Amino acid sequence: MTTSATLEAKKVSAGCGLEIHGVDIARLSNSEMEDIRRLYFEHGVIFFRDQDITPEEHIAFAQRWGEIDINKFFPANGKYPEIAEVRKEKEQKTNIGGGWHTDHSYDQVPAMGSILVARELPTDGGDTLFANMYAAYEGLSDGMKKTLEGLRAVHSNEMAFGAAGFYKNTDQGAGFKGEDLVGSAVHPVVLAHPETGRKALYVNPGFTMHFEGWTAEESEGLLAYLYRHATRPEYTCRFEWRPGSIAFWDNRCTWHYAVNDYHGQKRLMHRITIGGSALN
Ligand code: SIN
Repeated sequence: MTTSATLEAKKVSAGCGLEIHGVDIARLSNSEMEDIRRLYFEHGVIFFRDQDITPEEHIAFAQRWGEIDINKFFPANGKYPEIAEVRKEKEQKTNIGGGWHTDHSYDQVPAMGSILVARELPTDGGDTLFANMYAAYEGLSDGMKKTLEGLRAVHSNEMAFGAAGFYKNTDQGAGFKGEDLVGSAVHPVVLAHPETGRKALYVNPGFTMHFEGWTAEESEGLLAYLYRHATRPEYTCRFEWRPGSIAFWDNRCTWHYAVNDYHGQKRLMHRITIGGSALN
């Protein structure tokens, strides 16, 4: 589809993701920025190709959307602390983000979005999967929507980034920091998106611990159902990276999953996370 005089866009799958062509994100006019803003909020995750941007241009693009939210746990780029490095060396077996999650749901004011730029890619593999949580919510029955109404869930980062958390026990452990900064937050299970007002499912396998007022054991069954439902192929897409590719997702209405299928090769991505607002 053509969405403006210069900008072309194509859905990655019917239910998730939009690839945008015909723009240079380091030199966007105000009207292109407006178009991209509209498409980003409508689709939840957008992709660009052939963008040869410097770290400075990555930072400048992020700043057009809001304040940068520096990740407390990820290894940062030595020269640009705003940039978190999602790195897997050829000797490492564990990747970062190798399970369904959404960034920063463990913060009481979670990050609005994340902009991921490909810096070094394996020859094959290393794709990222995305899932659309607007579509997942809309695909639930009226009975389930009613059950979820008013429910809240506790999210925590301790299992991922704590002293005894997942990464510490892997070959990524040495790169992570901030184990004393772990904490939790409570959010609605169905949020009204702060920009669009549209409802989205807001629990995720990476960081959601249990429903507020329910034990973890009691929560387990319903969460497992929601996770199975949310990752149906109808709501997901797979993004194959190429040099110059960028993915920009809205953490309030998407999940993502970095596929770990390129052992023996290096993959390096630069991620900037943009601050958001409290959720209702
Ligand atoms: C992430 O979870 O932010 C990383 C995604 C990826 O490396 O594809």
